[in-house]
Amino acid sequence: MDHTPRPNMPPLENFWMPFTANRQFKAAPRLLAAADGMYYTDIDGNRILDGTAGLWCVNAGHGRRKIAAAVERQLATMDFAPTFQMGHPIAFEFAAKLAAHAPGEGQARLDRLFFTGSGSESVDTALKIAIAYQRAIGQGTRTRIIGREKGYHGVGFGGISVGGLVNNRRVFPQIPADHMRHTLDIDRNAYSRGMPAHGLELAEDLERLVALHGAETIAAVIVEPMSGSAGVILPPKGYLERLRAIADAHGILLIFDEVITGFGRLGTPFAADYFGVIPDMMTTAKGITNGTIPMGAVFASRKVHDGLMHGPEHQIELFHGYTYSGHPVACAAGLATMEIYEEESLLSRAGELAADWEEALHGLKGHPHVVDIRNLGLVGAIELAPRAGAPGTRAYDVFVDCFHKGLLVRVTGDIIALSPPLTIEKEQIATIVSTIADALKRAA
Ligand SMILES: Cc1ncc(COP(=O)(O)O)c(C=O)c1O
Repeated sequence: MDHTPRPNMPPLENFWMPFTANRQFKAAPRLLAAADGMYYTDIDGNRILDGTAGLWCVNAGHGRRKIAAAVERQLATMDFAPTFQMGHPIAFEFAAKLAAHAPGEGQARLDRLFFTGSGSESVDTALKIAIAYQRAIGQGTRTRIIGREKGYHGVGFGGISVGGLVNNRRVFPQIPADHMRHTLDIDRNAYSRGMPAHGLELAEDLERLVALHGAETIAAVIVEPMSGSAGVILPPKGYLERLRAIADAHGILLIFDEVITGFGRLGTPFAADYFGVIPDMMTTAKGITNGTIPMGAVFASRKVHDGLMHGPEHQIELFHGYTYSGHPVACAAGLATMEIYEEESLLSRAGELAADWEEALHGLKGHPHVVDIRNLGLVGAIELAPRAGAPGTRAYDVFVDCFHKGLLVRVTGDIIALSPPLTIEKEQIATIVSTIADALKRAA
């Protein structure tokens, strides 16, 4: 590759890049300059098919004029206003819009919205709400949170404590947490189409952790209903139902981290709808504004919300919030995003494409290095055998190769993860698969 400086290349040394091998990247940068529909354009003018919806967030495709217009209008009308002991209409309107899509019935309905600025903030907010709720109902000894190995819940201290990715954890202190085992079992479930058949018994880990710590010490259990960041790990059939039952039996709140699965990724508004299991809270971000303006939201049940609405009315019920909770410009972007999802039926589109998507991805079975293929909704993963002594390098090479051939994929370890915008067409699915197939042939 040619590394000579190009006239359109900015200085690279000042931006300390997140989750990036900074020195490797800056020696051979990949810079995206524009985006429209299903495509990015890099700084050299090459078109790149977006196989990852940016970072699992651009569900309605890029460059949506409606969102840009709404943001421009809101910026000109009111750029910022506080939401501490103050309010502005658009935050309430957006909460009501989201609430209309919320799963659950009666007191279990998840239509009480706490706004944040990101997925990590949503997670830490939900964990704090869980602990505060338990205390408010007289269960103040419940301060521990149960997560799961390989879980990803962002990078706040709460999120890394319940998360289960060692590199995100080993350097940092954590809040009291423990972990169930993850549900990835390639030996038994390789090449499952959709949800794997084996592994329901892993839900009993929650029962074991109750026996180990005592239910009276546990506030909540948090899981991604489908893990994205660790490489698309699916719940075995019946697993989430069982978690719900065990949590209920012990007074433990169930939190679904829907930062990736929220807003149509599986063909339903939320994974809770897809699996038919209603948690006590859902954490969201990303697709809430189509990735345009940073924002997140915790969907809490009426039961959890109402449990905290106690004490004298002049008293703040939850000492928590962010300067940008309910930011008017983010709310404008979110409202326009939800309107696009509704007008174009995007929250169900993954369901219509799922069979073709599954068929196309599983066509990569038997290609060089492939050891497993996983899919659900409009999510997919191709797991490769690692190179001896150099885990992760093979998938990374495939990622770089695909990029130079005009396709953006994501890699984690030796897994290639796919989650295109929900606006993808069938021919583009075919392009994704053929580009990966060619890259696999070239990969050593
Ligand atoms: C399930 C899950 N939770 C939380 C997060 C963190 O979100 P953010 O990067 O917006 O803080 C992510 C990000 O990928 C995620 O996938």
